[in-house]
Amino acid sequence: MRKKALSALLAAILLLTILTGCNGDPVSAPVGGHVSSQGGSSTLPPDSSVLSQTSATPQIIGEDDGVRIIRFREESDECYIHVLYGAFKVKELDAMIKDEVYRRIDRFQQRRLTAMSETSRNDTYLTMQYEQARYDADTVTLAFESNEMRQGQFIHDSFAFCVNTSTGERKYLKDFVDFDGAKAFLVEQSARAVLKQYPQLEEGYVRDKIDANLKDTSDFIIEPDTLTLLFDADLFGMTQYGVTIRVPVSRVEIDTYLKEKKEAENSQGQTPQDPPAAPPADTPTPPAEGDKVVCLTFDDGPHATNTSVLLDLLGQYQAKATFFVVGNRAEKYGQVLSRAAAEGHAVGNHTYSHANLTKLSAGDKLGQVTSGAQAIENACGVSPKLIRPPYGARAPGETEIAGERVTLWDVDPQDWKYKDPQRVASHILSHVQSGSIVLLHDLYATSVEAAGIVLQELSAQGYRFVTVEELWGL
Ligand code: NI
Repeated sequence: MRKKALSALLAAILLLTILTGCNGDPVSAPVGGHVSSQGGSSTLPPDSSVLSQTSATPQIIGEDDGVRIIRFREESDECYIHVLYGAFKVKELDAMIKDEVYRRIDRFQQRRLTAMSETSRNDTYLTMQYEQARYDADTVTLAFESNEMRQGQFIHDSFAFCVNTSTGERKYLKDFVDFDGAKAFLVEQSARAVLKQYPQLEEGYVRDKIDANLKDTSDFIIEPDTLTLLFDADLFGMTQYGVTIRVPVSRVEIDTYLKEKKEAENSQGQTPQDPPAAPPADTPTPPAEGDKVVCLTFDDGPHATNTSVLLDLLGQYQAKATFFVVGNRAEKYGQVLSRAAAEGHAVGNHTYSHANLTKLSAGDKLGQVTSGAQAIENACGVSPKLIRPPYGARAPGETEIAGERVTLWDVDPQDWKYKDPQRVASHILSHVQSGSIVLLHDLYATSVEAAGIVLQELSAQGYRFVTVEELWGL
C-alpha cells in the first residue's frame, strides 16, 4: 500500500498532541463500552449550525500525488477535533467526500453537546485521517479512519472512497472484480483474516457477518495487484483503538478462483448433483447361462414429470428398473414413487439429502441413511434393501450400510454431463453386457429419452430388464 508520508507524519504529531493534550489531561488509552458507529448519523444535516458556529475553517496544507490534503482543526477547552481529508479538484467528488467527513464531525459535535454533564465534555476528541492509494492514472482510493472518544467510550469508523478523477464517478467493487462470482472466495478470505486477528470469535458467526455485510458498495482499497477489503472491528463486536481489519487479496488469486470455478461449472454441465468422480466399478454379476439381463438404475429422483414419462416407457417394454431416490425428494414426489413401487420397480436409498457419506461423522452418516430410508417408506411403503451412496463414495471395502446393500454400477454414460440422448444411449449400448448395472438419472429428460433408445435396442437383442434385487436374488 502506498502510504502518505505526510499524513503519517501529521498523524504522529496529532497523536503526540492528543497524549500531551488538550485540557492538560492525558487522554488515556481507549477503554470500556462498545458503541455502535452506526447510530445517529442523521442527527444533523451536512451544513449544520454546529459547524457554522465554529471559527475553524478547513485549510489546504499540502498536496500528494495530485490530491490536496485538507485539514480541519478545532481545539477548545472542551474538545479536540483534528481531521485530515483529501480533495481532487473535481467539484462533485470533493463535495461528496467533504459531505461524508463533515457528517461525522457533526455527529461527533452533536453527541458531545448532548452529553449528560459538563465534565463529560472533557476528554473528548475526534480524529480522522486517511491514506491514499492509486490504481491507475485516474483511479484513486481514499481510505479513512475516524476515531472518536467521548465519555470514556470509544467509537471507531472506517470508510473509503474509490473514485475516477477524470469522470468524477465513484467506483465500486464490481468495477474491478466479478463481485457476484468471487463473493464466496472473498468471504472466505475475509473470514480467515478476521479469525486470525480475533481467534476467540466463532467461525460461523464471523462468516455470517461477512456474508451479510460484504456488498458491492463495501469499503475497499484497490491497487494494481491487490484488492484490500476493509472491515470495522465493530462489525464483530470488537472495539479497539484504530482497528480496521484489512483483508488484502491478490488479483491473481481472484482470477485463479474465478477461472477454476468456471472450469468446474463447465465440466459439470448443469447438474449440481453428481460430480464426475466415479467409484471403482462393480463387476457385473454373471447371470444364469443363456439369460441376458440388464439393470437400469436411476438416481437422484424422483422427478415430478420425467419419472412419470420413464415409468410409461418401462411399462411398454415390461422392463423393471431400480430407483435410488433422495429422501427429501421422496417426501415431495411421493405419488410418482408410489406408482414406481406399485409397478414392480425397486426403490433404493440415496440418502436423505444426497450427502457424501464419507465426509460425515458416524452419527450423521447413520442419520442420513436412516432418515432417507424412513422418507422412502413413508412415501411408498417400501423399506429399501439397497443403498447407493451419493457420488459412489463409501468407506474402503464397505458393502453394507445400516443393513442396506451397497449398489454401485459398471456402466456410466455420464448422462448428467452429456445431455444428448443419442450419445448417452450409444455409450450404454457399447459397454453393456449381461448382468450390467447401468447408472442414469431420471432428473433429466434427455436421460429418459436415452433410456427409451436403450430399451428398444436391448429388447431387440433379447435382453430382459430386471431390478438389482432380482439380479442379486434378494
Ligand atoms: Ni446421486
